[in-house]
Amino acid sequence: MDYKVKDIKLAEQGERQLEWAEMHMPALMEIRKELAKRKPLKGLKIAAVLHVTKETGVLARTLKDAGAEVYLAGSNPLSTQDDIAAALAKEGMSVFAWRGQGNEDYYKNMESVISIKPDILMDDGADLNALAHGKHKNLKIMGSTEETTTGVNRLKVLEKSGKLRYPVIAVNNAKTKYLFDNRYGTGQSTIDGILRATNILIAGKCAVVVGYGWVGRGIAMRLNGFGARVIVTEVDPFRALEATMDGFEVMTIDKAAALGEIFVTATGNKWTITTAHMKKMKNGAILCNSGHFDVEIDVDGLEKMAKAKKEIRHNTMEYTLDNGRNIYLLAGGRLVNLGAAEGHPSEVMDMSFCNQALSAVCIAERYKSLDNKVYDVFAEIDERVAVQKLSSMGIITDKITDVQKKYMNEWEVGT
Ligand code: NAD
Ligand code: ADE
Repeated sequence: MDYKVKDIKLAEQGERQLEWAEMHMPALMEIRKELAKRKPLKGLKIAAVLHVTKETGVLARTLKDAGAEVYLAGSNPLSTQDDIAAALAKEGMSVFAWRGQGNEDYYKNMESVISIKPDILMDDGADLNALAHGKHKNLKIMGSTEETTTGVNRLKVLEKSGKLRYPVIAVNNAKTKYLFDNRYGTGQSTIDGILRATNILIAGKCAVVVGYGWVGRGIAMRLNGFGARVIVTEVDPFRALEATMDGFEVMTIDKAAALGEIFVTATGNKWTITTAHMKKMKNGAILCNSGHFDVEIDVDGLEKMAKAKKEIRHNTMEYTLDNGRNIYLLAGGRLVNLGAAEGHPSEVMDMSFCNQALSAVCIAERYKSLDNKVYDVFAEIDERVAVQKLSSMGIITDKITDVQKKYMNEWEVGT
């Protein structure tokens, strides 16, 4: 087995982290037991481009126990936990990832996992799938899964163009994924990233959340819980209304720029905070992003515009502008929850990665009957994950009665 990690000597520390994650991912561990007996991925090669965290480690072990050969690369230059990469490499997995890899190594590492001629792809952000439709367009692939909103959006554009070469399962679109991972996972881990990078007091600050999708909602909710006054900016009228009725002030980013002390972007869109906005910001404003790519804040523009910069704390860069004000960019504008903290807690990744594991099995078992389309996670998988998670939490729900079932299927009975 081949691997490329920062320091293999970190393996022992990584093993303890993996043990901790396994304790907090009970639903996946249950599914892992079943897949280990059945081995539905036997003989298949999976190329996975995911954030290499302790939770991804548990997923990779699950796929391996299910019979697959797993080849893993990082889905972001800053998100790899080096001890986990070392632990996985030591137990024989082919891992190509380290924290702080530049763009060139990011693509080289991805090349290492795609060049093994995988049967199934597991992607987070669609860069691996982009390779499989560009340089590697002749590879025969059964199908792919996709973890995040931005990746699903990219793959849907590919589908619309008629060029999608195999079926894709949008793991992001499972209810047991976006309702929890995007909202509560990112809500908590974004605050975690901001605090680890800055150690500021959130209470009493004015925070601006750019984008009120699943991720933005979670971040706004948690910032509010910490005592921030939260402003939301949006482009979608329904989401702007929702934010208003959730109790947040909604205005344009142009106006919010002058008011905010903390800015968090979560749109999946480009240049939602521009240099024009930055020039309006207060001295000391903190900027960070939790969207998938580092395009949401115009970091290149900031680099060009600033007259000085210095790393004032780990993951916190101070930029001095011509107007004499300092603004602070966290984790280089890359996802702050993974760049400055450890990403989502294991309990929430538990559900996301049950969906990943079961969707990979679904591709292996059903790919011949699937079209070259982007599918949502099959309802029976989503439901199974919900039931499994509830059961692991010791929660028992009511069951619909026969009378209720009958009532719900009638139209004649009214007042
Ligand atoms: P979403 O589609 O539910 O929400 C995005 C929102 O941003 C939409 O409401 C849209 O109207 C809004 N928006 C778009 N352009 C805007 C602009 N210029 N100004 C203001 N609002 C704008 O998506 P989501 O599930 O919330 O995901 C958002 C991003 O976060 C994606 O890139 C996704 O891949 C990423 N993500 C990151 C993590 C993480 O761990 N950091 C986890 C899940 C998703
Ligand atoms: N995305 C967000 N948090 C994550 C985590 N802990 N592991 C893998 N991917 C993630």
